[in-house]
Amino acid sequence: MNTENIEKMSGHWLLAKIGKKVLRPGGLSLTKKMLAMLDITPADDVVEFAPGLGYTAHMTLEKKPHSYIGIDAEQNAVNDLNRAFKQTSALFRLGNAAQSFLPEQSVSKVYGEAMLSMHADHRKAEIIREAYRILKPQGYYAIHELALRPDDLDNNVKLHIQKELALAIKVNARPLTVSEWTDLLKKEGFTVLKVETAPMHLLEPERIIDDEGVSGAVKIAKNILLNPSIRKRVFQMKRIFKKHEKNMCAVTIIARKE
Ligand SMILES: C[S@@+](CC[C@H](N)C(=O)[O-])C[C@H]1O[C@@H](n2cnc3c(N)ncnc32)[C@H](O)[C@@H]1O
Repeated sequence: MNTENIEKMSGHWLLAKIGKKVLRPGGLSLTKKMLAMLDITPADDVVEFAPGLGYTAHMTLEKKPHSYIGIDAEQNAVNDLNRAFKQTSALFRLGNAAQSFLPEQSVSKVYGEAMLSMHADHRKAEIIREAYRILKPQGYYAIHELALRPDDLDNNVKLHIQKELALAIKVNARPLTVSEWTDLLKKEGFTVLKVETAPMHLLEPERIIDDEGVSGAVKIAKNILLNPSIRKRVFQMKRIFKKHEKNMCAVTIIARKE
């Protein structure tokens, strides 16, 4: 295994490499809440921004939407998704969610998980604006992202957490407070309907078992224990998540285009 790559690899792909399928901060349970709020039906045309490994895509397709398109920025992810979903009606495209090239007002529901947090604030706004553009009036947009808390968190603490997170996960993560997330959605024209939060326990053993099942958790544990360079990176991420546990959470928000 190339250890230099492991040192530089973004946290989510490193976790995917060792068998982690659920890569969003609130785990499967917050994803289920998000999908329950979205209430996808056979009448819906759905777009997912950043499907990644396609875990939520599977859950969405079980609802038999009229159409589903997933747009991810990574070529490897899109190739794997097209292979894994070959037998389904789902379409996966390589692209930037900020410029999906989908027609205006063409879909009824859009969602994205663990992707806005990876971007600077102006880019977050562009992606939200794109969701707004492609949604039909009264269409729904749901997000599931990393958040900081409390809402009045000191700016220096915020910057310190962002810096330590970026070093640990090798992605310039820019999480916002829950009220900043809702404000951003409102600023782009959405009405916020519901907000749910969960602890940021992505690497806590209990959450790993909940998300990946016992056999998945055992596989992940083996991969961590047997490979020192992976172990170092995963423990570093876990240490930073634990250190800032009090000031971090996962949030899912559903909003409507007015
Ligand atoms: C942390 S993973 C989350 C994947 C998946 N949503 C999940 O929750 O398991 C981040 C994903 O976002 C994708 N991504 C990041 N920015 C993107 C953008 N602007 N447009 C499309 N995909 C993007 C990455 O390629 C990667 O697959």
